[in-house]
Amino acid sequence: MSTKQIDPSLIVNEDTHRQAILKRFHTPRPDWYEKLFALLLAKCLKAYEPEVAGYKAELFSRLRGRVNKVLELGIGTGPNLKYYAGDGDVHVYGVDPNKRMEKYATEAAVAAGLPRTNFNFIQMVGEALPVSDASMDAVIGTLVLCSVQDVNLALQEVKRVLKPGGLYIFIEHVAAQDRTALKFLQKLLDPLQQIVGDGCHLTRQTGKLISEAGFSDVDIKMASVSVCFLVKHHIYGIARK
Ligand SMILES: C[S@@+](CC[C@H](N)C(=O)[O-])C[C@H]1O[C@@H](n2cnc3c(N)ncnc32)[C@H](O)[C@@H]1O
Repeated sequence: MSTKQIDPSLIVNEDTHRQAILKRFHTPRPDWYEKLFALLLAKCLKAYEPEVAGYKAELFSRLRGRVNKVLELGIGTGPNLKYYAGDGDVHVYGVDPNKRMEKYATEAAVAAGLPRTNFNFIQMVGEALPVSDASMDAVIGTLVLCSVQDVNLALQEVKRVLKPGGLYIFIEHVAAQDRTALKFLQKLLDPLQQIVGDGCHLTRQTGKLISEAGFSDVDIKMASVSVCFLVKHHIYGIARK
């Protein structure tokens, strides 16, 4: 179809629809808050990333030379790109509702050796991924299911967009065991954490939700991260569609 044939009202409607979805799953934050959160995240990751580097190297080695289209759910500042983006002909779709992450993620993509044309930042949420069914070789999500509003819906979206046999790679912090002092503290601080941590929940049993999401194969391991006591319990692994 030539551009002359496109009804401009359709374009407006599509953007209105996109904004409505964003609003539904990610309550609009003031611009200063989004900017500050992006800046703080970039700084905090300097201490956190070295601790998880071993797990990430293990997970992302599974993608090497095998993927062409990758979607990052809640890409944030793009700390994972260096593990896989410079490898062959990879095209990355970085999805995040916070538009202030775009600058950081784009810089990380370029630093990782990804041609600029092979990186798309898309302002959207995990509950409504903006790509078609069975179009991705891999989906990556690190420290993001704590923040999405509807974890089950986001996991169904991950499955929808993966090609059959496609891989979902994840690292997430999870709730401490019941009846421990840490779990008590997490429950107490959860409401505050959601305010200061851009919607982050401390008490989610994300491993259970991933296991029950209907992937054909799920491999989940536990890890402990010392850099932040409140979120020290992590899970990491790979699920196959
Ligand atoms: C703690 S940060 C982690 C970012 C990055 N994945 C990392 O490992 O550093 C959580 C990210 O999830 C994004 N996010 C929040 N709600 C989301 C949603 N509903 N769908 C997708 N991403 C979301 C935030 O904007 C933020 O960039």
